[in-house]
Amino acid sequence: MSLITVNELSKIYQVRNRKKSQKHSGIINSFKQFVSLHGKYQCITAVNNISFTIDSGDTVGFLGPNGAGKSTVVKMLSGILVPTSGSLEVNGLIPHRDRMNHALNIGVVFGQKTTLWWDLPLSDSFDLLQVIYEITPQEYRTTMKWLVDILELEPILDRPVRQLSLGQRIRAEIAAALLHRPPVLFLDEPTIGLDIAVKQRIRAALRELNQEWGVTILLTTHDLRDIEEICQKLIVIDKGQMIYNGSLANFREQFCENRVIRVAFKDLHSANKLAQELPPEVMHMEQNGIWVSLYYDHTKTSAADIASHVMNKYTLMDLVIEEPSIEKTVAELYRGEVR
Ligand SMILES: Nc1ncnc2c1ncn2[C@@H]1O[C@H](COP(=O)(O)OP(=O)(O)OP(=O)(O)O)[C@@H](O)[C@H]1O
Ligand SMILES: [Mg+2]
Repeated sequence: MSLITVNELSKIYQVRNRKKSQKHSGIINSFKQFVSLHGKYQCITAVNNISFTIDSGDTVGFLGPNGAGKSTVVKMLSGILVPTSGSLEVNGLIPHRDRMNHALNIGVVFGQKTTLWWDLPLSDSFDLLQVIYEITPQEYRTTMKWLVDILELEPILDRPVRQLSLGQRIRAEIAAALLHRPPVLFLDEPTIGLDIAVKQRIRAALRELNQEWGVTILLTTHDLRDIEEICQKLIVIDKGQMIYNGSLANFREQFCENRVIRVAFKDLHSANKLAQELPPEVMHMEQNGIWVSLYYDHTKTSAADIASHVMNKYTLMDLVIEEPSIEKTVAELYRGEVR
């Protein structure tokens, strides 16, 4: 049975129209615009009839362009928002109906918000969470040790949260979300604004948490490297509707037709020669000194065929077969060029 089941889920926000006054100008006008509510409602369909399931231990990348409805789904899964229609269940509970018990089942990290106590030293925030979640002292010690280790928190435990850098704070947020050992972790843009070294540390920690603890992960991000390095499954939504739901491997297989092999020659002469007489299946090439990148359509030929074609004629120094990046395809998907 699935750990998370989402069935024909929709969310419509109702927002009040604010009508502009034509008579006044300047600050008064702005103020009038701000306060004049005309009681007319506008409906915004943020999530439109989506269904999916997530199994225990899955790592799911949740993608979509700005305004697609991702955060709205994460908020409904977390029990913060009530769906307009449809149903959802997380670990046997309906999030918005059974919020207290549901909170014990999930960890949530919103990259742009903090759940920690701003003025308290980080370790005091953790101590408070121990009390809130009624974690036994022994369990607390074991879990803390693990999290401090994985997320490298030791040097910042005594620092007040307000003094932490963004990267330090996000690592602390992830620890806080997992202190009660929930089976599920929802992350909404956890790597936003982080430098590449911190991103890599967080990705490694999330992989470890999934592999060692079996934590199920649903990750929203605009950094596709996060998805490529952490997730095995992918859900893509656009304008509140599902446009892809499947494995990352399938996504590559189905949509990313272009692959690349990079070959390095002993001398520039051979590299130039290959550039002039490309194997027939190669669609396009780029040369950078002794390195030549050969782009091919994987539905028409294979890396092995191209490699053997080149190696029959030339002596190579190096050969690299690259996994296709999903970035180009995801951009095409957002533009509606592939569906
Ligand atoms: N509280 C709200 N009231 C009214 N409309 C909202 C509210 N929150 C979100 N929306 C609207 O719902 C739609 C989906 O927003 P949501 O924040 O879920 O998108 P998102 O996929 O998370 O986008 P982003 O990648 O920019 O974070 C947008 O059109 C947004 O303007
Ligand atoms: Mg969002």
